[in-house]
Parts: sequence; structure tokens; C-alpha cells
Amino acid sequence: MNRTPVIIGADEIRRQEDAAERIAALPNRPDSYHIVTYGCQMNAHDSETLAGLLESMGLEETPDRTTADLVLFNTCCIRDNAERRALGNVTWLRQLKRSKPHLLIGVCGCMVQRPGMADRILRQYPFIDLAFGTHNLHQLPSMLYELLTRRERVIRVSSEDTAIAEGLPIKRASDSKAYLTVMYGCDNYCSYCIVPYVRGRERSRAMRDILAEAESLLRSGVQEITLLGQNVNSYGNGTDETFPALLRALDEMGVPRIRFMTSHPKDLSDGLIEAMARGSHICNHLHLPVQSGSDAILSAMNRRYTRERYLERVGALRRDVPGIGLTTDLIVGFPGETEEQFEQTVSLVQTVGYDSAYTFIYSPREGTAAARLGGRLPDDVSSQRIGRLIRAVEEGSQEAYRGMIGTVERVLVESISKRDASRVSGKGTRGITITLDGGPEDIGKIIPVRIRSAAVNTLRGERI
Ligand code: SAH
Ligand code: SF4
Ligand code: F3S
Repeated sequence: MNRTPVIIGADEIRRQEDAAERIAALPNRPDSYHIVTYGCQMNAHDSETLAGLLESMGLEETPDRTTADLVLFNTCCIRDNAERRALGNVTWLRQLKRSKPHLLIGVCGCMVQRPGMADRILRQYPFIDLAFGTHNLHQLPSMLYELLTRRERVIRVSSEDTAIAEGLPIKRASDSKAYLTVMYGCDNYCSYCIVPYVRGRERSRAMRDILAEAESLLRSGVQEITLLGQNVNSYGNGTDETFPALLRALDEMGVPRIRFMTSHPKDLSDGLIEAMARGSHICNHLHLPVQSGSDAILSAMNRRYTRERYLERVGALRRDVPGIGLTTDLIVGFPGETEEQFEQTVSLVQTVGYDSAYTFIYSPREGTAAARLGGRLPDDVSSQRIGRLIRAVEEGSQEAYRGMIGTVERVLVESISKRDASRVSGKGTRGITITLDGGPEDIGKIIPVRIRSAAVNTLRGERI
């Protein structure tokens, strides 16, 4: 979408920095914080910004939520169970608050942004001290200051959904891998999806801001950057700042590994495939959510591509990007989905052969177009279908994994293996988890290995 975003002004950012300093000087402020994150990578990255903001106020992170003075839940509302899980955990903390009255409980993220939710929190969750929506994240310092000085609950959900905040502090979870947001929001309105209502309109960061952030990550020794956006392919500000151009610029900068997500199949251009094919640092992996293999369901979902077009794009990717691995998202039990339409999803999965896939049972979301459709499927039908679909995904993935035995993969080592302390694990460029012999000194390094065997969801490799 060619919309020029509103950049949140320097004076507003300064106002927040002032509030952060004032909090740091308060005698009664919380000393420690713990953030519980639900949902997707965008939320995980938002939590890194929340952590950065809290540290700018002098708070320190604690790994245990029961010992923290402030617990912040960064929530997701993509499906009903995501929301229920978050609310269940928030309510659990209420018990703790009885024995620890100074405990502050905050809730933020997509669920809070959902229409009607702020009211519900106000009425039904009196023990929540602080609640704010996705568009208020940068105001955390002033909101917390208000809470601490006035001792009144603060609930703030803005409907201003076209702005971008630059220059906020970030505390990244990893030294070797980093998320970098390129665009915010979504204008696609897939009929089942709540995201456009809670993340606002599509807006892209300026390329110079993205490149400056990438430069500083590179200088700090980051090995892998994952570009984030709900639909990164539509990145752009109406100029020559397109997603393929951005990829090329990052590739030339020499970022060792570049990944990106999520790509919408309707916007997967030849230019993007070419950028992936030519780039020397762009990972040979694409997450390309298909959702369904049936044209009728795809149309009812407002996905704006057909099965044929999707398969054509997959063919072009496999032809031009050697050894590319594909992953996807799938929904079963969309309203009115027939047995035959579901079988088309299974057959598409068999045709493509994904490395892995996220499979979901359709969950009606209030306010979305699909929530108004008839033809809801009984739970047992959806459960049975998702079981069959998972088996089809696993068969394809096992075949793909077996096909990699004997090949060489470059693994970015992330951690010591949980099962065997003499092994480490990380991801190859295709995004598959690979284990190898090693120790703590390997963490953060990229190590070439030959794949020796395949297990469920992991490959075993040997250093070469
Ligand atoms: N922007 C990304 C991801 C969106 S959310 C994209 O377009 O792919 C991640 C996944 O959640 C979606 O791809 C979809 O498969 C699933 N999802 C979204 N809304 C859902 C709903 N109401 N019920 C079940 N699954 C849903
Ligand atoms: Fe939701 Fe569709 Fe946007 Fe993805 S592209 S966030 S599924 S509306
Ligand atoms: Fe959930 Fe919001 Fe992400 S609804 S999937 S956390 S954009």
C-alpha cells in the first residue's frame, strides 16, 4: 500500500524519555519486570521494545514471573484459545497479588486493542492495573508514570492506526539473531482474520531507517536478521522503495543471513523471486501461507489467489531458488468447508511437500466478515480434519528431510541441545533445526555440517 506513514514526532518521543527518567528517580517504582508474550514474531519483537522501554526506566528483567514487581502480558487474539490462555494466566496472577499487594499487572497487545476489550478489562478484571493497545506501546513510560504517581488504573487504547514510532529503545532477546520491522499493519482483510482490526493500516518504514538499523545490528555482530511485517511483499512507500530493492540493499550490505516473513502469495512478484535467486545472503526459505487448497474457500477467505496461481508461484520459486524450503499456514473447518474442499487442501499439501506447516482450526473472530457466515462445522469434524492434515504435512516433511541427507547445511548455532549436553542445535538456511556435536563456544557461530540422518522436526549433522 502506497501510504506515507505518520512518524510519531521527536517531541513526543522526548516526552516519553522524560517520563522514563522521572520513573527511574521515583522511590516507589517497581524494580523488576517480567514479560509474558503470546502470538507471532511481531509480538515477540514488540516485547523486545517493551523490555527496552522498561530498562530505560531503571527496571531489571527477572526470568520468574512470581518474583517480578511488574508482570506485563503481551497478548494475541488471533484465535479464541490464544485469548483464553492469556486471560487465564492473568487471572492466575490475581492470587499472587493477594499476598504481594505491590505487584503490578499489565496487559497489552492485540487482545487489548480488540473492540470492546478495554471495557471488559475495566469491568471484569479490576486487578489489572495497566492496559494498553498496540498503538500505545511507545507511551509505556508516561502510562506507567501516571499509574505510579496517581495510583489509579491506566487503560489506554488509541484508534490512531497509521503512525510509526522510530527510535525506541530495544532489548533484544538474542545476540546473534535479530528481528527488524519493515512494515506495520495489514490492509488485506482476509475474511477470517482479526489482524487488520488490531494492528491498524499498512504502513512501511523508510528504507533509510531500516538500513540504518541493519547497519548497527551488523556492527554489533548479529549473524541473522529477520525482516518482519504482516505482509512484507507489499512493503513500500510509493517510490522505488520496494521489498526486492530493500532485500538487495541488505544483501549488498553483507548481513550474513537475511530472512523475512510473512509473504502473501498474491504479492509474491517475479522481482522478489529474482532478488532471492541472486542474493548471496538471502536464506533459501519462504513461509508462504496458503490457508486452503480449494478455490471456493480461498475466494470466501478473500485471499485473492487461486490454487493454480499459488502452485505456479511455488514452481517459479523451486525453479529459480536452488534448494528452497517452503513452509505454510493452513486453516481447516472454515465455514461451509465440504469434505471435498478439505481434500483439496490435503492434495495441495501433498503436491507442494512443505518442510513444515502450522495447522489451525478455524476460530470465529467477532467483527470479521467470516464470523457472520453460516455453515459452522461441528468441532469433531474439524478435529478429525486437522488430524488428517497434520499427517499429510508430516509425510511431506519426512520426505523433504530424507532428501537432505548427504547435503551440506550451514547451521547458525543457537543453544545447547536439551537432550544431550554434548550437542548443540541451530537452524540451517532453510529454517530446519539441525543438531551437531559441540559446546557453548559454538553459540552464535555459523558452522557447516553434512546431514547424516533425519528425525521428526530435526536433522542430525556432522561438522565438515
Ligand atoms: N500475516 C500473516 C499471519 C497472520 S496470522 C499471514 O497473512 O500469513 C497467522 C496465521 O493464523 C494465518 O496465516 C492463519 O493461518 C491463522 N489464522 C488467522 N486467523 C485465524 C482464525 N480466525 N482462525 C484460525 N486460524 C487463523
Ligand atoms: Fe490476516 Fe490476511 Fe492480513 Fe495475514 S494477510 S494478517 S491472514 S488479514
Ligand atoms: Fe496474534 Fe496480533 Fe500476531 S493477533 S498473531 S499477536 S499480530
